[in-house]
Amino acid sequence: MTRQFGTVGVVGLGTMGAGIAEVFARTGLAVVAVDVDDEGVTRGRCHLEQSTGRAVARGKLDEAGRAELLGRITWGTSLDALAGCDLVVEAVPERMELKARVFAELDRVCGPDTVLASNTSSLSITELGVHTGRPDKVVGMHFFNPAPVLKLVEVVKTVVTEPDVVADVVALVERLGKSPVVIGDRAGFIANALLFGYLNHAVRMYEARYATREDLDAAMRHGCGYPMGPLALLDLIGLDTAYEILDTMYHQSRDRLHAPAPLLKQMITAGLLGRKSGRGFYTYDGVDSPTAV
Ligand code: 3HC
Repeated sequence: MTRQFGTVGVVGLGTMGAGIAEVFARTGLAVVAVDVDDEGVTRGRCHLEQSTGRAVARGKLDEAGRAELLGRITWGTSLDALAGCDLVVEAVPERMELKARVFAELDRVCGPDTVLASNTSSLSITELGVHTGRPDKVVGMHFFNPAPVLKLVEVVKTVVTEPDVVADVVALVERLGKSPVVIGDRAGFIANALLFGYLNHAVRMYEARYATREDLDAAMRHGCGYPMGPLALLDLIGLDTAYEILDTMYHQSRDRLHAPAPLLKQMITAGLLGRKSGRGFYTYDGVDSPTAV
């Protein structure tokens, strides 16, 4: 029997989690959005209000539609609120011990048929699955930033994921208006495995003073038609997130391509995380406006 996924949960309301909650609510699903504390919930709620406000300002959504969308979301600070969900997507920070704890707890709270998904960029879905009593109902659902805009969702299956769970999640992704691809459980899946070597190489070129950040970015935008240059994209992804992804891929493959450029670590230590901290390779006045310094 095909699962309909009427009520879905999202755990972790950072940039990705809030974006994923928006995508679900936009499709008419009831969403239970959970973060660890009130501060996290407020951050997620603000993110959604801003993003839907921008859609209204651009004439993509009217005020009534916005109110309906936001009205489909219930906010909470306890995983117990997810008990009635048909699917839960975990989007907490990229640390295995944290995600494993969330999965074990979700397994306890949710009904036996609930599908548990992770938005992890590079950690093992198989390993998350073994922290539950239902590894056959555990998948990856990897969205791309900004989630409300980018079409791709990588659906990651493990050697024990039930084929009908994969098929139902793929059908849901299509219902969201997104483009699913299905892949096995390997660090970086498809897109990050191809993308992050390129991003890391750009940091190394910048570090070696090979070219200015503006010229590096302009080359890829104007020469290759990419919507953003690599350094601006790293600022969007978050340098800490990018580092974690590279490090995980490097440890799995030992391919030097993915050995994080030393400059990344230095910038993270100095608090330069990209857009979310106001400064990365560029400095940001508002959410979306880079200025050169
Ligand atoms: N949230 C919601 N909507 C957003 C948004 C956001 N953060 N940023 C932009 N948008 C919307 C705008 O409202 C606009 O919508 P409209 O066309 O319906 O009016 C549309 O996106 C285009 O935005 P803008 O005109 O302001 O700006 P651009 O045309 O320059 O697009 C961009 C901005 C969508 C970010 C584009 O530059 C882009 O696609 N960049 C590449 C992003 C990318 O490669 N992401 C993947 C990162 S890797 C990843 O996520 C994997 C993870 O594991 C790390």
